[in-house]
Amino acid sequence: MIDRQFFGRQLIEIDEVDSTNIHAQDLLKNQKVLEGAIITANFQTKGRGQMGTSWYSEKGQNLLFSLILTPTALPLEMQFYLSKVVALGIVSFLNEITITNAKIKWPNDIYVGDKKVCGILIENNLRGYCLESSIVGIGLNVNQLDFGVYDDSATSLRLLFGKVMETSLILNKLLNNLEFWYMKLKEGAYQIIDEEYYRKLLFYNKWTHFEVKEKRILRKIIQVNSLGNLCLENGDGQTEVYGMKELKFII
Ligand code: BTN
Repeated sequence: MIDRQFFGRQLIEIDEVDSTNIHAQDLLKNQKVLEGAIITANFQTKGRGQMGTSWYSEKGQNLLFSLILTPTALPLEMQFYLSKVVALGIVSFLNEITITNAKIKWPNDIYVGDKKVCGILIENNLRGYCLESSIVGIGLNVNQLDFGVYDDSATSLRLLFGKVMETSLILNKLLNNLEFWYMKLKEGAYQIIDEEYYRKLLFYNKWTHFEVKEKRILRKIIQVNSLGNLCLENGDGQTEVYGMKELKFII
């Protein structure tokens, strides 16, 4: 792993905020921020999740942060590669701390076994047909023990290791891995990214049950295209393409 050059060179630590992603957006509008700036919070009053959901996290227990990026050279039709490298950064960090069975659940969740340990919310700002900036929001469950109604589907590093984890050390290691994979994107190393992405993608190339319009279907993931759509093979060898809201995993 290379030494980190720019992720976290500007670190804004806030105790309580509506959402670190909203705060990052305000900073981008009103102030000069450097690529790689990080906004962390102990607590969010309006934490945002994917597809308009909320993200609740116990005060001071977990890592909640947004990373500001300016991937201006990434063509818009390749934008899902940003999601891919962020997910890979998180999984390679989990591998580094010996969680070897971490997987990427399409489109944007990180799972260990059958439980989610980390959520990602990427919000892009476009200028014409180019990405002007991206806010990468990450919520990693570190020390929370109780997830209430989500107890069966969520986990934390503390639950996995059986001990309290130091969030600042976790953040440092995580940023190293995120920067490493983001550099691969900057270098245009799409093939290396894809190879590793499919190695870490949950249910890749395996016949798996999914739910579509309340019906169970058996399909095999064969690709996640550059727009982020999931390409599945059906029993007749044909390819079907699904967008984010069109299909559910059965875990
Ligand atoms: C999801 O899995 O639904 C995505 C969750 C993303 C949560 C993080 S926490 C830090 C950042 N700020 C937010 O409001 N959301 C993201």
